[in-house]
Amino acid sequence: MDIEAIISDLTLEEKASLTTGSAFWYTQPIEGKVPAIMMTDGPHGLRKQEGEADMLGINVSVPATCFPSGATVCNSWDTDLIFRIGEALGEECQNHDVQVLLGPGVNMKRSPLCGRNFEYFSEDPYLSSHMAAGHINGVQSKGVGACIKHFAVNNQETCRYSLNAIADERTLREIYLASFEEAIRTARPWMVMTAYNKVNGDYCSEHPHLLEDILRKEWGYDGVVVSDWGAANDPVRGVEAGFDLRMPGPVPCADEAIVEAVQNGALSQEKLDACVRRVLTLVKKGIEHRRSPEAVHSSGEMFAEHHALALKAAAESAVLLKNTDNILPLQNGQRLAVIGGFAKNTRYQGGGSSNVNATKSLNLLEALAEAGVNDTFARGFRNKVDVVDEDYVQEALDACCDAEVILLNLGLPFRVESEGFDRKDMTLPHNQIDLLNRLSTLGKPIIVLLSLGAPVEAPWADKAAAILAMYTGGQAVAEATVRLLYGEANPCGKLAETWPCKLEDNPSALNYPQKDTAVYEEGVYIGYRYYEKKKLPVQYPFGYGLSYTNFRYDGLQLERAEVTDRETVSLSLNVTNAGAVAGREIVQLYVRPVSPSVSRPVKELKGFRKTRLLQPGETETVRFALDGRSFAYYNTSISDWFVESGRYDLLVGASSADIRQSATLFVTGTKQIKPVYTAESRIGDLLADPKAAQLIGMIAGGQMGGMDNSQATQNSGFPDEDAEDAAMDSGALGQDMPLGKLVNFSGGRLSFDKLNMLLGMLNQ
Ligand code: BGC
Repeated sequence: MDIEAIISDLTLEEKASLTTGSAFWYTQPIEGKVPAIMMTDGPHGLRKQEGEADMLGINVSVPATCFPSGATVCNSWDTDLIFRIGEALGEECQNHDVQVLLGPGVNMKRSPLCGRNFEYFSEDPYLSSHMAAGHINGVQSKGVGACIKHFAVNNQETCRYSLNAIADERTLREIYLASFEEAIRTARPWMVMTAYNKVNGDYCSEHPHLLEDILRKEWGYDGVVVSDWGAANDPVRGVEAGFDLRMPGPVPCADEAIVEAVQNGALSQEKLDACVRRVLTLVKKGIEHRRSPEAVHSSGEMFAEHHALALKAAAESAVLLKNTDNILPLQNGQRLAVIGGFAKNTRYQGGGSSNVNATKSLNLLEALAEAGVNDTFARGFRNKVDVVDEDYVQEALDACCDAEVILLNLGLPFRVESEGFDRKDMTLPHNQIDLLNRLSTLGKPIIVLLSLGAPVEAPWADKAAAILAMYTGGQAVAEATVRLLYGEANPCGKLAETWPCKLEDNPSALNYPQKDTAVYEEGVYIGYRYYEKKKLPVQYPFGYGLSYTNFRYDGLQLERAEVTDRETVSLSLNVTNAGAVAGREIVQLYVRPVSPSVSRPVKELKGFRKTRLLQPGETETVRFALDGRSFAYYNTSISDWFVESGRYDLLVGASSADIRQSATLFVTGTKQIKPVYTAESRIGDLLADPKAAQLIGMIAGGQMGGMDNSQATQNSGFPDEDAEDAAMDSGALGQDMPLGKLVNFSGGRLSFDKLNMLLGMLNQ
């Protein structure tokens, strides 16, 4: 395809038609000139519908491997693993002639209640964006495009089509956009999908600041910006803002509006051509990389390999939350009672557009039987409704009669957690907790397995001897569970999100979800950034997870003690398996500004590494590199990232709450902020700037009322012994005084003219 030749050959109508899909999953073909390509969901498995199409996962799709969902696989903190999953997804797309897979989803977990949290990676943008990059690179290495979504600030399902999310610029940059930024800059996804909602008043698919200023200009993104399905709004404003493709199609009136706007001069031909050029480039890539399905190995063999990968991923992503007296791993031959309907109807994925028609899925009972484990089983609780059914409870108590260990599979049913709506609360269904309480009266150890896509409150945790969170672990989750339970695999996942003690502790709890406008009042304080700042206890901290072994951290070495924000500094330490079985450790690096002049989180994740499988006694040297961005915050006065000169603690830990090694680094920021002074500038800020202080001194001759501490003290009426304190108080009062207000206190010595002259000199 010669793109420029095609553009010059296309009519205005044909160009406009390329900005809308031709059908639910296809771009617009133009006979003899432009072929169509197919996109489909995503993210953790292929959902290709050959019959009737929908965006809610209702109609059947082709069999495909269902990998662990985003929330689950992120607990692995393993970018190589997610790359391999991406490769497998790309292969399945090639097998089905799909050119773009709609994922990964990288929205931040602002609230544990978001119905779609099972699909998203984390509450931390650094972790989320790095995992997303691995996913995208894997998919695209197979010649299939990835589509990062939903850009941006799509953090609730309630009223998702119209909600106006209000967030300040710093919050956007440091949290909600940062989750996209690294992945978009480094992995260059073929597509970016805009969210349904508005951000600060504009729909995302016609948002000049998000699309033009940030995505295109700052991040240099030249791929296609596609709407979420049905999210596009005004066609002309969209093209103006750098938006390219409205899906699904056809939407003839949208094409007509674009034609009309170009004809009457409201939209420039260049803007439309730029958009057409991007769509054609995408189509070209799709067609050129398209492999005939036969070129990929046969489905049976491929699916077996992918199932094995899904199993490995589920095992690597499981998080062991509790393990009293090392009750896990279980001993072979221990008599087991398996309780809970999830053991029969596995909850291995979430509901909605990501719903995959799995190629194969054993349930827990089948997986145990395959491993030669005998057990008794009872459903224990009803799943469709949250009522305690005494018959179910009795069956469960009976099933536990001869058991030595009770394996209780709890979790969130589809009815409470899915795309399209948010959870109402953060609890497990009441009938499940009731059952746990009743079983605990038997005095037998209870191992709780959790099948869910997001945290739950766990005041019941003391009733469980062990808790193993399998999350929504994909089609091989049951087999992975058996391996973990019997020690054939060692849990090594760590939470990519905090589990707060209760919903009310979450920073968005007071205003989540909203119907029209959601104000992100908590700013950058999301997840652990908030709980740490508020010193709130949590149920399980960010980055937490147990293992059947334990690791020793030592020998931290920092390359040097001082660095500028233009340099990179490296850090290394040794991690040793100090236990009795082989295992992998996730090592986390946090940066803490020691005395920032602006409000900042206590610490933030700026690096993570997962060791290889270490045998008992074996050591791995883990290395990190930090650059200027690792220390920066987004400074809105210069509209840029800014590193404040000062000391920063580098904290290396096994979780955000378990720091094992640390060092301090002095970082010099090289960007200068030239202040712009106005009549509203505070005296304290002016006096802290030597040039400004000197000018004020010269012009006011030191006579300005309210500014002279000694004078204020004399008149204060405080007894002598308090004079020093009083002087400080009055000084502090003066510090906050806006410069312009001095006109009122100068007894005529400072006029408005003189003030303006002073400002003119200051801002030269
Ligand atoms: C979802 C997207 C999905 C699209 C197509 C929408 O409802 O938000 O994530 O890719 O449908 O199914």
